[in-house]
Amino acid sequence: MRLADRRDESTVITAGSSGAAAMVVVVVAFGACSLLGCSRSEPEPAPRGESADVATPPAEDSGARSIEFLIESRPVKSLTAEALKKKVKPLRLEVFEPYEHANVVFTALPLERVLDEAYGPSWRTHEAILFSCRDGYEPTIPVRRVLDHQAFLAIARPGDVGFTILKDEEGQKRRIDLSPVYVIWENLDNARVRTEGDYGWPYQVVRIDLVSFQSRFQEMAPPANSSATVLAGFDAFIAHCSKCHAINGHGGAIGPELNYPANPTEYLKEAWLRKWIDEPTLMRIAPRMPPLNPDLPDRARIIDEIVAYLGAMASHKVEPGTP
Ligand code: HEC
Repeated sequence: MRLADRRDESTVITAGSSGAAAMVVVVVAFGACSLLGCSRSEPEPAPRGESADVATPPAEDSGARSIEFLIESRPVKSLTAEALKKKVKPLRLEVFEPYEHANVVFTALPLERVLDEAYGPSWRTHEAILFSCRDGYEPTIPVRRVLDHQAFLAIARPGDVGFTILKDEEGQKRRIDLSPVYVIWENLDNARVRTEGDYGWPYQVVRIDLVSFQSRFQEMAPPANSSATVLAGFDAFIAHCSKCHAINGHGGAIGPELNYPANPTEYLKEAWLRKWIDEPTLMRIAPRMPPLNPDLPDRARIIDEIVAYLGAMASHKVEPGTP
């Protein structure tokens, strides 16, 4: 059952396709500024991992920070979490939080409803959603995944820790501010989404752009005549690496660019490159890079494919910033 089909959201509703293992979602109503604050100031963006240490209090203006909605980089709308909350009814949703590795309850808005508000129903015909975060994280999620599974924009975390999670980073537990919104997924009933770990869980999201894979990943694409292994590696790189790493200047900005001017297959022995992907703690003490999700089925094959893709890109360089 999809949230969009539900009639009565003002009382307790159940999620999940089977009634048996149904998860309870309780709808709550909020006063205007009580939870999220109404201040207008815009604090400095902080890099992922340094955004907040344990002592830093959560931002008080999370509801006022706006989220830009775009189509192929063209601005369409700008809405604050506060404004969205007035248009889309918030729910209380419990999920298995993949960074805290525990069940956490969030106040959240169904992503489909939010996208309907921002774009009208036509967003469903687009290929992918590019999320940009305050810290340079830039994951791309296929629209298909939003249609097939239940995604939400979390806007608050009830309780006394504010809108934050406690995350392992560089061998330390850090409290991370999630505002203005955090993309979360129903994964208590959905084992597949749960296996995919933190894939598609960006926080500090400030931009939502409807893109095509062609436009987003043109400079990252391997040559058209590449082998099936290289093409599969390209898909895997988009899913698992591009949110943090750029190729030819395109992609996330948390980790280093991986092709221009030098590609790791040119300066690392293959065994060391594999270690980076498989277990970065074998390469650095307290790395910021996480290992490739250990729960992925076919993980060894995916690593082979990513290594093949990077190898192919070494002879396919485009200077960043050139058209
Ligand atoms: C959450 C962000 C993140 C993800 C996801 C990520 N990396 Fe990284 N990566 C980093 C960071 C940050 C570094 C720099 C070293 C460090 O601080 O850990 C790094 C370092 C590297 C390096 C070493 C580069 C050098 O020259 O030292 C390689 C190679 C690499 N990553 C490849 C990958 C591949 C391939 C994937 C996908 C399977 C991936 N990374 C996923 C953040 C990430």
